[in-house]
Order: sequence, then C-alpha cells, then structure tokens
Amino acid sequence: EKGGFPYFMLKEISEQPEALADTLRGRLSNEGAIVLDEERLSDQDFRDIDKVFIVACGTAYHAGLIAKYAIEHWTRLPCEVEMASEFRYRDPVLDRSTLVIAISQSGETLDTLMAVKHAREQKARVLAICNTNGSTIPRESDAVLYTRCGPEVGVAATKTFLGQVAACLLVGLFLAQTRGVLYGDEVAAYVERLQRMPELVRRTLGTVEPVRELARSLADAKAVLFLGRHVGYPVALEGALKLKELAYMHAEGFPAGELKHGPIALIEPGLPVVVVVPSPRGRANLHGKVVSNIQEVRARGARTIVIAEDGDTDVEPYADHLIRVPATSSLFAPLVTTLPLQVFACELALARGLDVDQPRNLAKSVTVE
Ligand code: M6R
Repeated sequence: EKGGFPYFMLKEISEQPEALADTLRGRLSNEGAIVLDEERLSDQDFRDIDKVFIVACGTAYHAGLIAKYAIEHWTRLPCEVEMASEFRYRDPVLDRSTLVIAISQSGETLDTLMAVKHAREQKARVLAICNTNGSTIPRESDAVLYTRCGPEVGVAATKTFLGQVAACLLVGLFLAQTRGVLYGDEVAAYVERLQRMPELVRRTLGTVEPVRELARSLADAKAVLFLGRHVGYPVALEGALKLKELAYMHAEGFPAGELKHGPIALIEPGLPVVVVVPSPRGRANLHGKVVSNIQEVRARGARTIVIAEDGDTDVEPYADHLIRVPATSSLFAPLVTTLPLQVFACELALARGLDVDQPRNLAKSVTVE
C-alpha cells in the first residue's frame, strides 16, 4: 500500500502533481470561470460578504496565511488568518456578512471545529476546505470545498497542504469573480496559469535529489532557520514546522524583513539558514531586499541554503547551496517552493534514523483541545 516507497510520507510527497490536479479538476471552466461545487451558499451570500477570517491549525494555518495574500489582492476584502485555538477566546467581531474559511485536512481537528461552531453561533457564513469526505467540520459548515487529494497517512501534511493552497486560490478567484472585482479575462489568465501548476510540481519533484544529499549532510545540525517574505514567509514557517515535527530539531521561520529586529542575533558560524527568495519579477523589489538578507546572514557565517526560481542569477554569489524551482506567478510560488522543504525535512529525519510517518508525541488528527 506504500506503492514501493519505504514510508507513506515519501509516497505522498511523490503524489503531489496528481493531488493538485485532483483539487483543481472540474473547477476551472474553459471560459476561465471558477466553478465551486458542493456549495450551499448562494452567489448573493458571497456578494454580501464584507470581511474574511481564515481559521486553521498547523500546516493548514500556513495554507491560510498564503490565502490571505491572494484573497486581499484579488477581492479587496480584508482577510484575517488566525490559529483556530485562539480564535473564539478573543471574542472576534463576526456577523452575517463575515465569511469564515475553516481549513482542515482531517475535518476532525477540535480547535477548528470549535471555531466553526463559534462562528456559526455569531451568524457568520462558514466555508470548509477539507480533504475528508463527510467529516465533522464540513458537516458543521454552510458549504464545503473538498481538496480531493486522496487519503494522507503520514502524520506530516504534504500533499494536502498543496490541495489546501490550491483550494484557497480557487476560493479567492471565485470571490473576485462573483463580486465583480476581477474581469473574466483576468480570471481566465489566472486559471490558465493554475492549470499549469501540476506540471511544474512534477518538474520540481524531478530535481530534488541534491536536496536529499544536502539534508543528509546536515543531520547533526543543532538548529535551522527559515526566512521568507510575502507568500514565502508562510512557506518558511511550513519548512520549519516540518523539520520540528519530523527531525525533532529546533527550527524557526521568520519574515526576512524582521531579521534586523532580533533574529539576526541568532546567526553564528555554520548555522544553516534556508531562504525562500521571491521572484525577481515580483512586487516592490522584495527580491532585492531578500538577496541583501542572504548577504547579511552569510557575512556572519551562516551556511545559506537558497530556494530561488530558474534564471535568478542575483542569488548565485551568496548561496552555499542553491535549490532551483520553476518560475511562476508570485501567488502560486508556494506550490513549488514548499516541495524542497518537505523533502529536506523528511530526508534529514531519515538520516537521523527517525520514523517519518509516526513522529513521537503526534497524532494525525488532534481531536482534543
Ligand atoms: O487535520 P488538520 O488539517 O485540521 O490538522 C491540522 C494540524 O494538526 C496539522 O496540519 C499538523 O500541523 C500536521 N501534523 C502538520 O504536518
């Protein structure tokens, strides 16, 4: 049942091109429109919304952080992302024109379920993004969008993360389209690019062998830092979470722009620092700023592991290890930049002799608060 792989996690990493294609299948019409099935909310309900909250835990929370960039950019609706375990305890301001998006692979995470119940009590509309048909969170929500990635057995979320990110992008485009913020041809252009993503995922996974070697060489490292900016920041958080849960290693993700406000004090000779570099074609020269951050940490002795898109030559002089990913739209980049980080954490844990499917102290779904 592991399909020839020694661990489910390795199998599930390899299944990501198909998992992503399955999330997208049937939801992108040829005319470019976004079709959401399994909807129990009307278009008018979506037009009446004036703010969005995303609630989730762990990896699903990271998918939500990525979604915020896309939803605010495309829909011009304010969007907040909150860990489900904090959400209902701070009395969030919710009403019937609030859309709450609950993201959960299992559909059984108690913190997320309680956030959903709280939101519905306050009359908010709740849309679940979930991988498990008929699970509790979709049943308690007004509407559901299934990620359709197939069962995920490894405790670490991999393919379902890609499905969650893709589902969030679909919801963002759907909202923008329904509310008339994006024109049909703009949506069509995004749809066309989204349809190419499963192939880019396949291509990226075909080039990760050097990442395995690198991970093995770092099996004795004490800690690893991850830096990113814009959507690369949640990707950095996800890379750090994977390393914590699989390799039991101290790992932290930071927004690269925060470096000077504290984390740079952690840099010491030999410390591995993974940097997720924004596209050089992206907004506000974030690329140049992150390249400067790489120089800064390297000048203090860090061993820099740089994830940058094909053709980005600016990073070359400062990368001790350069991991290439295909060029994509900024908002879609997490679908490829996350992949080497999954492989990195998995391989490093294996090099430490650990069971990547069943990390200590963790359960696949957390049904207690
Ligand atoms: O089933 P859920 O998506 O609600 O689970 C949320 C988290 O418990 C989950 O993502 C956890 O962080 C994973 N082990 C991460 O790999």
